[in-house]
Amino acid sequence: MYYFIQPMHEDDIPHVQEIERQSFTAPWSANTYRRELGMPETSRYLVARASPTRPPNEPPSPPARRKPLLQALLPTVFSKPQPPSPYPIVGYGGLWLMVDEGHITTIAVAPAQRGQGIGELLLNGLIDQAIEIKAARLTLEVRISNESAQRLYLKYGFEPSGTRPRYYTDNGEDALIMWTDVITDPAYLSRLDELRERLAARLQRQAGMNA
Ligand SMILES: CC(C)(COP(=O)(O)OP(=O)(O)OC[C@H]1O[C@@H](n2cnc3c(N)ncnc32)[C@H](O)[C@@H]1OP(=O)(O)O)[C@@H](O)C(=O)NCCC(=O)NCCS
Repeated sequence: MYYFIQPMHEDDIPHVQEIERQSFTAPWSANTYRRELGMPETSRYLVARASPTRPPNEPPSPPARRKPLLQALLPTVFSKPQPPSPYPIVGYGGLWLMVDEGHITTIAVAPAQRGQGIGELLLNGLIDQAIEIKAARLTLEVRISNESAQRLYLKYGFEPSGTRPRYYTDNGEDALIMWTDVITDPAYLSRLDELRERLAARLQRQAGMNA
């Protein structure tokens, strides 16, 4: 399988919610997703899709910077709706911008598709979005018991910086708070390049094996 990332669209919400229900105890409502998708200046959501053949070209580039004022103020109203995609969604992730901090709000991969680099692909997509909306550093909360997610974040330069006691209301579990360094620093970007090269090689290898 080939995996690729695209911006999340309203049509994707039910598919995202299905993965979310399999991954988290307190899923968001469809309205919450719609609200998030309506604030592209501060909120970015992505989906990962699977394709049995080489995926289509790059997703459409963001709208040109030179555009009429109204369109610039209301980008979502004017962005063209995408036709339904034939490629199933296998994961999703999201990010908020608060001042100059990017908060990873959610990331999940369908249980049957885990362990193939899709989580890593999504995290890379979110880091790109964070750079685009000018976040300086990235932060997130993760359950203390969620070692696999923590290892993913550690790999991408997130470091533990404290806890939020009893943050998760379903079982009273603590959250570990993690932060990156400045993501546009040359040192961070050069580490990111290395990780991306390795991830690309891994995904290519897997796609070749399954072809
Ligand atoms: C966390 C999650 C998104 C990772 O996605 P994934 O596609 O399975 O992960 P990847 O295959 O891309 O793995 C990337 C890295 O994550 C870490 N990782 C992923 N699964 C792991 C596991 N079972 N055990 C240990 N480390 C793991 C490793 O560092 C791995 O890098 P490596 O392959 O070089 O060791 C996925 O497990 C998931 O959806 N979990 C449920 C939802 C969740 O907990 N989200 C995080 C909320 S904060």
